Amino acid sequence: MTVDSQEVSTIVIIGATGDLTRRLLFPAIFRLYALKQWPNTRIIGYAVEDFTQAQFLQHLEQNLQQFEHDYDGAVWESLKGQIEYVSGDLTAASLSRLQSKISANALFYLALPPQLFGDAAEGLGEAGLSSTGNGWRRLVVEKPFGWDFDSAKALRERIHKFWQENQVYRIDHFLGKETTQNLLVFRFANRFLEPVWNSDHVRQVQITVAETLGVEGRWQYYDRAGALRDMIQNHLMQLFTLTALDPPSTWDADVLREHKVEVLRAVRTIPDDQVDAFALRGQYQAGLVGTQQVKGYHDETGIPTSSTTDTFAALKLYVDNWRWHGTPFYLRSGKRLAARFSEIALELRDVPPGLFGKPLSNWLIFRMWPDQCIDVVAWAKEPGLALETRQIILATPYQKIDEPDYSAYEQLLLEALHGDRAYFLRFDEVEESWRILTPVLDAWRSGAPELYDAGSQGPKGQERLMIAGHHWRTIAVPQ
Ligand code: BG6
Repeated sequence: MTVDSQEVSTIVIIGATGDLTRRLLFPAIFRLYALKQWPNTRIIGYAVEDFTQAQFLQHLEQNLQQFEHDYDGAVWESLKGQIEYVSGDLTAASLSRLQSKISANALFYLALPPQLFGDAAEGLGEAGLSSTGNGWRRLVVEKPFGWDFDSAKALRERIHKFWQENQVYRIDHFLGKETTQNLLVFRFANRFLEPVWNSDHVRQVQITVAETLGVEGRWQYYDRAGALRDMIQNHLMQLFTLTALDPPSTWDADVLREHKVEVLRAVRTIPDDQVDAFALRGQYQAGLVGTQQVKGYHDETGIPTSSTTDTFAALKLYVDNWRWHGTPFYLRSGKRLAARFSEIALELRDVPPGLFGKPLSNWLIFRMWPDQCIDVVAWAKEPGLALETRQIILATPYQKIDEPDYSAYEQLLLEALHGDRAYFLRFDEVEESWRILTPVLDAWRSGAPELYDAGSQGPKGQERLMIAGHHWRTIAVPQ
């Protein structure tokens, strides 16, 4: 999406010297700029570090050289003229120094540790930056939005002291991924899917986001969050709602988001005394990821040896509505697993066994990583004299090698600047997903995760979530 190039605006990145900015936001801005997609938008970096303008630019340049494959010195020379650095903390007094530097339209991006979101939103509001007589003001808030149901509500209250809901853009970068957006296109642009997209035909849905990475120096955040908060509450819940929602009538942000909330509202509450049948947590110990020997979670820098943080979380959800009643949705995500591998896989119910003497089912797989592909696992005749079946895979990569590959942050930055909120979360989506997880979070306050070897399929106990006849799919790079 391209923003009207005549519209002058400013993006203020609060937390401009942090990890998110250097690894993801600035490379995204750089690529958009290099591709001439960056709108007429000035960039202000704001952070506590007492950098001069020259030091900040040098810091950005060094990071771009490290994190951006397509770094180009000439592009940087041109881009850097649009960047300014302002040093300050999150108090209103300090933030008000931004006042004279921004035009009517401004987007404030909170690239901060989650515990600072409330301070920053209030500070900006008290400094008078959340409103203006003409033009727009927007606030982008990163994930996780809160640590549980109550803290998410409390954060919302703080933000809403100064910001209206339609100014708040709660980001979940999985919604900016090409594969996520293709899920909606493929579901609703193809007539053959809708008739089978329900519990009459779908036996189970498995959503897996497996990583080979460990905590990567983010221990301060991660050891408090764990896999359930870091991945399931946001990214996997988004994949789940987009898989399960009813067809919206338009792409209008509120229509789409209303349909997503409807799914979440229909999710059966996990009974407090049956959490173990619906949720499972694991923690990695030392092992081999590919050919690399890696440490266990307890031996990672900064992690206390007593930590019971989940580095793997799995969940079984039921959607009690007409479309999905009786079909389990299994969600799982973990670090240090056998492969980097993400997919949404739907298994259709068996065909009657009469003709072939055995039950046959199909899988429909939306693969997000390592490639962007839709696979239909089907049955065909085994060539030969007998009427035997064999499994075939109709594999459809939908991105061509030479097509542009925009990152999720490129996509979402442009959408926020453009004012399109369809791929940002409404508060009730966040609230409902915390509601669903509350019994699990409560139960996991005590006890400990099951250990699994780094490089494995995850905790062996994950099988206990499956109902009879269902098994987790293998986490492996497809051949
Ligand atoms: C982030 C999580 O939101 O998503 C990380 O905090 C995780 O722990 C990352 O590694 C995964 O995103 P992607 O785009 O690399 O698949």
